[in-house]
Amino acid sequence: MTKILEKANVFKKIMGLYPTGVTIVTTSDEKGNPVGLTVNSFASVSISPLMVLWCIDKNSSSLDAFLQADKYAVHTLSEQQKEACWAFAGKEKDRFSKVHWESSSNGLPIIKDSLGVFECKTVSKSEAGDHIILLGEVIDLSITDQSPLLYYNRNVGPIPEGWPES
Ligand SMILES: Cc1cc2nc3c(=O)[nH]c(=O)nc-3n(C[C@H](O)[C@H](O)[C@H](O)COP(=O)(O)O)c2cc1C
Repeated sequence: MTKILEKANVFKKIMGLYPTGVTIVTTSDEKGNPVGLTVNSFASVSISPLMVLWCIDKNSSSLDAFLQADKYAVHTLSEQQKEACWAFAGKEKDRFSKVHWESSSNGLPIIKDSLGVFECKTVSKSEAGDHIILLGEVIDLSITDQSPLLYYNRNVGPIPEGWPES
């Protein structure tokens, strides 16, 4: 057991030193209320057709909504969205009061001023240990002219000055 815990700790440390972008993934629950959480397990999967994936913790309070919904929206965050990143990662119930959002024509809650948005149809839900992998096909997408928010060593921030070198 100690060995397993040690391995899990090293795993977490390595992942903490693996910089990523940050996203907020949203959907609507069965009552039509917006639901969302901060996610960095997001990855690009396929270009033809356009596909992405992300993983949700089986203990997430948002799990049922994402399992029931047939769609979700991934927002890649800009460096201006640090507050939103933490609001959607915390225990706060009313996360959407911290952002400006509107409903899309696909019926998904869209957070305004995000760097990019992928609206997706859920293609598969696969068990993966303590998480579920949600594979999605992109049905709509949009981009703004902004810089990304980065996640590294349990912190978020902008791209360091002077990088990338031109
Ligand atoms: C940078 C960052 C990345 C995260 N990535 C994920 C993720 O990929 N999947 C996930 O289920 N939770 C992820 N979380 C945690 C959820 O955002 C967090 O557990 C959730 O919003 C807490 O609410 P809940 O307890 O109501 O589920 C991440 C948190 C942070 C700060």
